[in-house]
Amino acid sequence: MSRPLEVAPKVSSTVEPSRPSTRHSARHAVRRTVDGGRRAARVARNALRRRLGQPDYKRWSSPECLEESWDERTKQLAQLVPPGSRLIEFGAGRRQLQNYLPPGCTYIPSDLVNRGPDTIVCDLNERPLPSLWPASATVAVFGGVLEYIRDVPGLVRWLADQGVKTCVASFDTMPTGLTVIGRCRELFRRSYNGYMNSLTEQELLTIFKTVGFECMERQTWHTQIITQFVIGS
Ligand SMILES: C[S@@+](CC[C@H](N)C(=O)[O-])C[C@H]1O[C@@H](n2cnc3c(N)ncnc32)[C@H](O)[C@@H]1O
Repeated sequence: MSRPLEVAPKVSSTVEPSRPSTRHSARHAVRRTVDGGRRAARVARNALRRRLGQPDYKRWSSPECLEESWDERTKQLAQLVPPGSRLIEFGAGRRQLQNYLPPGCTYIPSDLVNRGPDTIVCDLNERPLPSLWPASATVAVFGGVLEYIRDVPGLVRWLADQGVKTCVASFDTMPTGLTVIGRCRELFRRSYNGYMNSLTEQELLTIFKTVGFECMERQTWHTQIITQFVIGS
């Protein structure tokens, strides 16, 4: 979820690398072309999904797509949940949040696909969104989820209408001040990841503020922000 870390190729400092054979270079070039083609096809598929507002059910139904490396982010999110909360986690994935919550919390998982007992299955890109009143949750948590939402303003308005008072969320923001090439690269990366929006940090804060949520806490996890918003404080 965080931007991929660039790893420089290993080159021996003492020995000049031998010149690759023509056959080796040709094979390498073919592999690079195939990889590039696959990446472009994935970006095109995701762009179409974004246009149609269709979630990637196949991806999110597959357990290999839910990474353990996200658990550190989940721990950070859990620390921003007030003790004793009744909370709903959207995009619950492996439901790790419930293991890190402060005392006295009641955990309700929600996701696009069933994540085990008591999951509220719901596509956050579908309209109308369901009523959350039966769950009576006053805290909502989103770990690596808002990026996959097309209409974030509509989602935040819905949260407030459903009685949510605190929202704890991570977000992989669109950086500002990029060059044209940098912006194209970033949009490509976002589309490759299947992101459905390209909000900057300021745009995200404004969306919450417009609905009455104040940003009470801002932290970082790799290149993502971790925020706690509270309404009417
Ligand atoms: C990057 S994973 C994060 C999972 C978990 N929160 C974590 O950090 O380990 C994104 C999660 O969002 C869910 N998701 C993606 N699109 C969604 C949608 N349109 N509505 C609801 N959930 C969605 C996926 O099923 C997945 O569980």
